[in-house]
Amino acid sequence: MKYDSRPFKLVKNEQIADGIFDWTVENKDLAPLAKCGQFANVKVTGRTLRRPISICDADESSLRLVFQVKGEGTRVMSEMKTGDEVEILAPLGHGFEIEKGRKYCLIGGGIGVPPMLYTAKQCDNPLVITGFRNKDLIILQDDFKAAGAELVLTTDDGSAGVHGFVTDVLKERIGEVDKVLACGPIPMLKAIAAVCKGKVRCQVSLEERMGCGIGACLVCACKTKPKDGEAFMSQVCRHGPVYDAEEVFFDE
Ligand SMILES: Cc1cc2nc3c(=O)[nH]c(=O)nc-3n(C[C@H](O)[C@H](O)[C@H](O)COP(=O)(O)OP(=O)(O)OC[C@H]3O[C@@H](n4cnc5c(N)ncnc54)[C@H](O)[C@@H]3O)c2cc1C
Ligand code: FES
Repeated sequence: MKYDSRPFKLVKNEQIADGIFDWTVENKDLAPLAKCGQFANVKVTGRTLRRPISICDADESSLRLVFQVKGEGTRVMSEMKTGDEVEILAPLGHGFEIEKGRKYCLIGGGIGVPPMLYTAKQCDNPLVITGFRNKDLIILQDDFKAAGAELVLTTDDGSAGVHGFVTDVLKERIGEVDKVLACGPIPMLKAIAAVCKGKVRCQVSLEERMGCGIGACLVCACKTKPKDGEAFMSQVCRHGPVYDAEEVFFDE
């Protein structure tokens, strides 16, 4: 796994929904190494610990990172100006495994939606199901359409798209797909894993609190059980963040 920490130039910082910001950062050495489902660890001025943010999109010279303001670190990030330099450690972790010729269903919930965009670009005509609490939090719909995805939008309160959860749509469409990839809150991932069990292989991207992001501090330890192996405390930053759903103990 190749990663490094380098200064990136912030070339775009735009608010795209309530409390949600869309960054483009440039570095020609590290951006081309990014794979779908990996993340970047962003150094925030005045804070010791970096902030892990999924790679939403990437090309030969830039990374796109979409984040929601949650606390002090992401607030500072949201106030940065284009032209600023930001120190980023990337690309980190193991991302989604994509096999050519398979029909994929990609599912994103809330701020778990961004990593599914770069992932959608690696799949052939995927079905993408995105779920949000309400219409004010909807992001990236036009980007998924431009990536050639068949897109289904759900909202918990019915203020846009299908009224309901991503799993309501998955249950209806699961017969059409070979594999499922998902990122979002743990209860959503657990429900998706239950729908997929015994039917299709499902990979999930976990969000654990992190420190170093490179396997040195154990902050992100999480109990997992590899196929044909013993349960162990794996490091989400290093062994994940993407796991086969069957490896994860969702309740521990
Ligand atoms: C692999 C991975 C990918 C992520 N991708 C995205 C993304 O694409 N967009 C997005 O908006 N958010 C993402 N997150 C969550 C994001 O890292 C946190 O919301 C952010 O670190 C909060 O920082 P803060 O200073 O604003 O909040 P605070 O709560 O003040 O943070 C305090 C400390 O806790 C850590 N922390 C807090 N919440 C989380 C969390 N959920 N996950 C990990 N560390 C956390 C912070 O890094 C910081 O060290 C991701 C998390 C992980 C682990
Ligand atoms: S964040 Fe330090 S080991 Fe994972």
